[in-house]
Amino acid sequence: MEEVLHRTIKSFVLRSGRITKLQQHALDNYAQLYCIPYEAEKKLDFVQVFHNTKQTVVEIGFGDGEATHQMAERNPDINYLALEVYPPGVGALLDVVHTRQLPNVRIVQYDASEVVQNMLADSSVSGFHIFFPDPWQKKRHNKRRLINPAFTALLADKLKTGGYIYCATDWEDYALQMQDVLRGEARISSPFSGFAEKPNDIVPWRPQTKFERKGVSAGRRIFESYFVKTC
Ligand SMILES: C[S@@+](CC[C@H](N)C(=O)[O-])C[C@H]1O[C@@H](n2cnc3c(N)ncnc32)[C@H](O)[C@@H]1O
Repeated sequence: MEEVLHRTIKSFVLRSGRITKLQQHALDNYAQLYCIPYEAEKKLDFVQVFHNTKQTVVEIGFGDGEATHQMAERNPDINYLALEVYPPGVGALLDVVHTRQLPNVRIVQYDASEVVQNMLADSSVSGFHIFFPDPWQKKRHNKRRLINPAFTALLADKLKTGGYIYCATDWEDYALQMQDVLRGEARISSPFSGFAEKPNDIVPWRPQTKFERKGVSAGRRIFESYFVKTC
């Protein structure tokens, strides 16, 4: 069963997908430890949230969180604020964060558009990770795509100078749209003339994600876009 949220145009469909016992157990027992409730009126203070002054990277739409926890484990000096609406995914990440005792991950289970707008202070974020956002391939659904000019401007507001936006997709026409939209935002620019080419020392390490694996096994190319806030 699928429920489409119609309040405004959403970038997701809230699926009531199958939840495993392990994921449900994690949601029931660990959410109060690692999840931050959505509050429209309150900007997050990362020092209070993570109990340190390290840089904070925000991941939007982490899916099952496989890349999130691997990055968090590899980079203990970076805080990760992970945003997702899909309960099984939140449960999966909570389970790993708790089992491996990862102190540098916190989760908000809510629409990332609203979290970014209402809970993040301007010039507070060191990076945004948007890995394989829902492609909304059909023309009539393109308007649901997360990367659009208004949302990109919002991301630029929230980034510190020197902070970055790192997007990846396996859908070529969305990748081209991302490049157009990101290049249209005056406050960010890319060290690459087009898509980011690997290997390089500029783009932060990312493990292969679940959706990336699906794209690769279907024979699709991966397109990476990397932009830095310059002013
Ligand atoms: C195609 S999946 C990719 C998941 C993961 N990043 C990966 O690469 O495996 C996109 C995810 O983004 C989430 N998502 C889409 N729009 C969102 C929003 N506005 N706020 C939070 N999560 C969102 C969906 O629930 C879904 O899990």
